[in-house]
Amino acid sequence: MKTTSRRSAIIKFGALIAGAGAASQLVGSELDERISLPEYLGIPGPVNRPLTAIVIGAGNRGNVYAGYALKYPDELKIVGVAEPVTHKNERFAKAHNIPDENRFPSWEFVFQREKFADAVIITTPDNLHYGPAMAALPLGYDMICEKVVAQTWRQCNDILNSAVKYQSIVAVCHVLRYTPYFRKLKELCSSGVFGDILSIQHTEPVEHIHMSHSFVRGPWRNSKESNPMILSKSCHDTDILRWLVDKPCTKVSSFGKLSLFRKENAPAGSPLRCSDGCPAENQCPYSALKIYERDKTYLGHLNLETGTEAEIHEKLKTTRYGICVYKQDNDVVDHQVCNFEFDGGTTVAFSMEAMTPYGGRRTRIMGTKGHAYGDETDLEYFDFLTRKSTKWNVNQADITSGHGGGDYGLVHDFIRASIAKDPALLTSTIQASMESHLMGFMAEKSRLNGGKMMEVKL
Ligand SMILES: NC(=O)c1ccc[n+]([C@@H]2O[C@H](COP(=O)([O-])OP(=O)(O)OC[C@H]3O[C@@H](n4cnc5c(N)ncnc54)[C@H](O)[C@@H]3O)[C@@H](O)[C@H]2O)c1
Repeated sequence: MKTTSRRSAIIKFGALIAGAGAASQLVGSELDERISLPEYLGIPGPVNRPLTAIVIGAGNRGNVYAGYALKYPDELKIVGVAEPVTHKNERFAKAHNIPDENRFPSWEFVFQREKFADAVIITTPDNLHYGPAMAALPLGYDMICEKVVAQTWRQCNDILNSAVKYQSIVAVCHVLRYTPYFRKLKELCSSGVFGDILSIQHTEPVEHIHMSHSFVRGPWRNSKESNPMILSKSCHDTDILRWLVDKPCTKVSSFGKLSLFRKENAPAGSPLRCSDGCPAENQCPYSALKIYERDKTYLGHLNLETGTEAEIHEKLKTTRYGICVYKQDNDVVDHQVCNFEFDGGTTVAFSMEAMTPYGGRRTRIMGTKGHAYGDETDLEYFDFLTRKSTKWNVNQADITSGHGGGDYGLVHDFIRASIAKDPALLTSTIQASMESHLMGFMAEKSRLNGGKMMEVKL
């Protein structure tokens, strides 16, 4: 592979895609390159003051976004927190030096005060986004809101309308848009090198242990408490697909089922909890003793205070994380397919698969002039005229935050958009996120109606 400096390659790439008709010069040239995050973080330059923000829900995601403030204190300062779990509230307040008067046991208390920051970061569970969002917007806060925005289409619309009414900048955490990998894929789609995009195949392999933790035992296991799988896991995918195709989605049909993690599949003689002497414990990939106690994985949602083995064991005895995966109150699917049609006839086949030993989305784009395949690390474009390939590879060493660098990418762009009061500096505004949420709501409606075709109309 011929290499050039990343900066010059990207500048050349940008110049090529800016010039209509020049896009085919991309192929087989020195543009083979590594894709790096800092190149994107450099745009559009430093801010003149730190944005101030209050974190609502100091759990996993709240700490991730707030971590940006610790790394880049000139850009973001966390000045308040609402979190009911005492040790999490204390730990967070200490890390960010938050005064006692700005610490709250629940989100409602924040909004009984006058506005005391530029923005709120809503990282509560899915069923607790609507309340704080609807309380924050009339007070004039800008907002980072975790996906899924809310639990119904009507609630999503309420938040959108309130954001418009109060002229707030609202970023939805579709963090994949901010990864160097997906930005590159978007650049390719916008460059014209595909000609017309006729079809896309996109899969989301969830990874089976991740499925068992998050969507069987964990916060997203039950659609009434959180959201259906097509939203809670795959709203990232509907969002990316809508973004890449860049045309309205018109129709969807979907099939899917919860097949494995059901009561009838529990091993004979298994007790309610893995720790209660299950005869199948050492043959079960989903043993809670293995996942949490021995492998010490996925501990984030166990709300650990000390992190000792004794404390983990106690959590397995007393919380749902110790209950057998076949005896939960889960209802979200472990496999689902969706067919989407877009304006102009582009078709998209999307597949969410729990039963994989790996994660990492795979995408194939079929255009009239070329084809691309990518797996979130490597990306290859093939040009039908020249029969040459161009390859890109994400520079892992430069990925300094989760979701392929997207977590900090989102915060970076939100800070600039909020300070400049310019939503154009942000790609995942609530306005841009509505249609992909609707694609999810309608896909679920189709699935529950035996795959009946549903129109997607904003
Ligand atoms: N963008 C992504 O890729 C991504 C990834 C994971 C999760 N999420 C979303 O982020 C959100 C949070 O997920 P998480 O994994 O951080 O969950 P979490 O359980 O780790 O964090 C949620 C926190 O909210 C707190 N909380 C509960 N009730 C509250 C209240 N009344 N007031 C204030 N705080 C309250 C909880 O105690 C907890 O600490 C969810 O909506 C989830 O779907 C998004």
